Amino acid sequence: MALKPLPDRLTSLDVMRDAPVIPVIVLHKVEHAVPMARALVAGGIRMLEVTLRTAVALQCIEAIARDVPEAVIGAGTIRSVADAQASVAAGARFAVSPGYTHAVGKACHVLGLPLLPGVATGSEIMMAQEDGYTELKFFPAMQAGGLAMLKAWGGPFGDVKFCPTGGVSIANAKDFLALSNVACVGGSWLVPADAMEQGDWARITALALEATTLRG
Ligand code: 3PG
Repeated sequence: MALKPLPDRLTSLDVMRDAPVIPVIVLHKVEHAVPMARALVAGGIRMLEVTLRTAVALQCIEAIARDVPEAVIGAGTIRSVADAQASVAAGARFAVSPGYTHAVGKACHVLGLPLLPGVATGSEIMMAQEDGYTELKFFPAMQAGGLAMLKAWGGPFGDVKFCPTGGVSIANAKDFLALSNVACVGGSWLVPADAMEQGDWARITALALEATTLRG
């Protein structure tokens, strides 16, 4: 699938608008990283969030950055300044965090690393906005209020765009994407653990292709 050219300096909006879904990826084996990334790219999904939740996550980011230039590799589960620095060193081009601290937000500005900071309350949105962030991850989306919460935030925080993540699936993604303050969604369903274990890359490509059609 031909993907459109991207600017050299990516913004958070570039990351969010590229496809309807940012896959949230947990990798336990380095050898899965490159075929998994190629499978997603083949299905039209190139913004890939590899979470820093396993011992091999940074090695996986490095491998994808080196061997899959068509992908735009990002690091998820950024919880500290050190995580942000290590991710950039490994080749990450964007970052996603499950929550927000000023330290992490400022470090990403300094590193030139587009960050989707995680928020679940109005106060957290205001903290992130104080540091210049207006494209945010709503996490955990379903558990923290889902569609109703996003609709409520549309009033006071009408200038913010969200990427709801957590409990989003093929069954409800369209409902989220229909909201004017949702730029994309995040979800792990594109990369099932059993497909990865079985090396069923065709299934991952099929899930990616299906996800590209979600905006209608
Ligand atoms: C996460 O960071 O784990 C995401 O919220 C993924 O959630 P999901 O598995 O419900 O898509």
